[in-house]
Amino acid sequence: MPMRWLRRALPVAFLAPLLAGCSLDGVQSIMSPAASIAREQHGLFMWTWYLSIPVMVGVFGVLFYVLFKYRRRRDDEMPDQSHGNPMTEVILTIVPIIIVIMVAVPSVRSIFRTQTVVQATSDDVVIHVTGYQWWWKFDYPQYGVTTANEMHIPAGKRVILQLNSGDVVHAFWAPRLAGKVDLIPNQDNRLWFDTDPDGTGIFTGQCAELCLGAHAYMRFRIVVSEQDEFDDWVAEFQQPAVVTTATDPLIAQGRQLVASKGCIGCHNIGNYSEGVKFGQPQYPDLTNFGLRHTVGAAILDATPENVATWIRDPQEVKPGARMPTLWQANDPNRDQEAAAIAAYLLSLGVEDGTQALAQASTGGN
Ligand code: CUA
Repeated sequence: MPMRWLRRALPVAFLAPLLAGCSLDGVQSIMSPAASIAREQHGLFMWTWYLSIPVMVGVFGVLFYVLFKYRRRRDDEMPDQSHGNPMTEVILTIVPIIIVIMVAVPSVRSIFRTQTVVQATSDDVVIHVTGYQWWWKFDYPQYGVTTANEMHIPAGKRVILQLNSGDVVHAFWAPRLAGKVDLIPNQDNRLWFDTDPDGTGIFTGQCAELCLGAHAYMRFRIVVSEQDEFDDWVAEFQQPAVVTTATDPLIAQGRQLVASKGCIGCHNIGNYSEGVKFGQPQYPDLTNFGLRHTVGAAILDATPENVATWIRDPQEVKPGARMPTLWQANDPNRDQEAAAIAAYLLSLGVEDGTQALAQASTGGN
């Protein structure tokens, strides 16, 4: 008997810690929406949830009533058979139909509301989002800005995303703002949402379509800031200060290494040389890298240590990543050179290399 009790209690004991991880205001909780689409989805979810409460009470009420009232009293007793009872059949047909209608009408209304194709006006922010294994490219055609894994948008504006893929199918999902919409090669999918006027903050998102390899590490951040802060970011980005000479010897060494180690064979760095484009489109653009909060598709905060760790051995941080290791395992210069490249990258777009660090530490969520 105690064994049987234990067998029943064990699954509950295992589930309890998992449930303890649930949170209504977590960084990726759909329960705390901060933009129009997420709010629409949250409203639908709550409506369905409230609707399910009377259904649950009704079903369990009838169940327990019947279990109690018609429980077996004597061994030889055969209960009344109600098979074919017209009243029961009619009720069991009509009630579900009513429930389905009550769920379907708001769902269809939401679909029409959110799927409407909106024509971009000059007041909207248009961003072309391209998914690659395993990172995100964000192009701002209105501003001539290209960046990776970190999207900046102003609060209180409509954002129109044009979604495409450079390889396999991915899915854009920022649970507190909008999603999910697939990114499909050679097909332009659209997603638009209005950000809340007071909804500034840093929101996280991730790929929601199994895209092999490092799918679980294909994350991104959306920085929603006041309009003037957003304008500052755009202005900073549009004029990438070219770092040709650096007073810091580590930064100067790093600048040389991104060429000699072949970084610019894959990555464009707008700060490297005026008007010269490096790299290939399927690898992240590192222009103004110092303005970013994270490295490795939003896996690590962009601290000098983390960026150096990433460059030193990307596979260790993100198994399956396309980025190769640039040194032999026993190369004595490996740690020092990785730190130099990190110092150079973090200096891009900022007055001194400390700004990115300060931003990273304030951008907790
Ligand atoms: Cu991209 Cu999963």
